[in-house]
Amino acid sequence: MNVLFYSSQPYDKTYFNRFGSDLDLQYAEAQLNAQTARLAKGFPVICAFVNDQLNATVLETLKAGGTELVALRCAGYNNVDLPAAAGLGIRVVRVPAYSPHAVAEFAVALLLTLNRKTHKAYNRVRDGNFSLDRLTGFDLAGKTVGVVGTGQIGQVFCTIMKGFGCRVLAFDLIANRELEAAGVEYLPLLDLLALSDIISLHCPLNEQTRHLINQETLHHMKRGAMLLNTGRGALIDTAAVISALQSGQLGYLGIDVYEQEEHLFFYNRSEEIIRDEQIMLLTSFPNVLVTSHQGFFTEEALSEIAHTTLNSIRAYFNKQPLIHEIRR
Ligand code: NAI
Repeated sequence: MNVLFYSSQPYDKTYFNRFGSDLDLQYAEAQLNAQTARLAKGFPVICAFVNDQLNATVLETLKAGGTELVALRCAGYNNVDLPAAAGLGIRVVRVPAYSPHAVAEFAVALLLTLNRKTHKAYNRVRDGNFSLDRLTGFDLAGKTVGVVGTGQIGQVFCTIMKGFGCRVLAFDLIANRELEAAGVEYLPLLDLLALSDIISLHCPLNEQTRHLINQETLHHMKRGAMLLNTGRGALIDTAAVISALQSGQLGYLGIDVYEQEEHLFFYNRSEEIIRDEQIMLLTSFPNVLVTSHQGFFTEEALSEIAHTTLNSIRAYFNKQPLIHEIRR
């Protein structure tokens, strides 16, 4: 009952070993891609994360090596070629819900940090600088917040924003009746963009949502608005967002996910020359906050991710139904 983990980090071992002592869990630090797929030879199950590549070539190599189940230890599955997996008879499971609070609360952390500049204040005071110059923020109460995607995470985010006294607008393919009853107003996307002081993205990445925020949609936003993205990097056209920040059309940007994150995020690159010019530019802007995909990173979420993933793997080995299987 052996399982190979790709892209594993020390915290993966901590949480998965805590709950999975009945299984033979092997951890590789390597990301899954065309070069590393052959490491899985002889493993019926592999466990992958957000930046592992599961395209047709990789899946074919996995299949040839005997892999039959891909267990994603995350919610999003935009990195998996599901038709190719189905064609090869490889089943794919994910963790559809672990802690929507973890990600929604992290989006609020980005918002409050960008607004009240606590990251700058922390450094100033440690440096003996007690000046308030250029730390001015704005009251959240009374502001309009636009939420794109009101599933599990977006719903929690809307509720928190209501608690701050904000007007909350939403865009989704399906309106959430509970949120509507709580006063959240569903609008077409362009209307939401035009009316919101703060916009937060909580929809999945797919063909409809790729570059949802682009040159044209940025143009519809209020000048100086704040954009938050804790969904997936490619929801935003990074080049267009950089131009909008440079022109002042976009006032603030808080991102926990980044279009080219697979080459950077989750690794210590502090001793390297980083060759990604867009991230270097973004991190040089005073009104931009970038974090490396840590929205999910709470005790509760890590425990739930390990529990759910290991239960799916056990169900597979015991020939039981896979309740978290992704079907096309
Ligand atoms: P969910 O499936 O509960 O909600 C997604 C919502 O987006 C649904 O209400 C759906 O109808 C809506 N949606 C789908 N297509 C849309 C479109 N074209 N336009 C507008 N809305 C659309 O998913 P959940 O759990 O709320 O997660 C949302 C996303 O957050 C995930 O897909 C994932 O990419 C990201 N995520 C990020 C994490 C992080 O650590 N930063 C951790 C977990 C998830």
